[in-house]
Amino acid sequence: MKRASALVVAIVLLVLGSQTTLADQPDGKALVEKDCQGCHDDRVYTRPNRIIHSLKDLENRVRFCETRNGKEWSEAQIEAVVQYLNRAYYRFR
Ligand code: HEC
Repeated sequence: MKRASALVVAIVLLVLGSQTTLADQPDGKALVEKDCQGCHDDRVYTRPNRIIHSLKDLENRVRFCETRNGKEWSEAQIEAVVQYLNRAYYRFR
């Protein structure tokens, strides 16, 4: 009996542990691919007359588009998407 409950505890800890890791590091690229293709594709991020000129603009825009899209992303998810878009397209410092 003792061993069985130790095993259950180990499994619960494992599952909890892996969920925290996922929640700590959302995948910005996957989020954009899944949730951000409704109105525009990734060409807006590189168009010549783009409306984003700083990291702050980018963050505001991600929040705006995310809410408009009826999503309820966590702060960590917003941050991950801002980081991903900046890394992949904008390259602000
Ligand atoms: C409800 C429609 C809609 C959805 C869904 C949407 N967007 Fe947008 N997005 C817009 C509009 C409208 C613009 C402005 C386009 C324009 O000015 O031509 C825009 C522009 C942007 C820009 C600025 C592009 C530039 O000029 O550099 C970014 C960044 C952006 N969106 C990110 C996102 C992200 C991240 C998501 C996923 C959460 C998303 N969008 C989903 C409507 C949407």
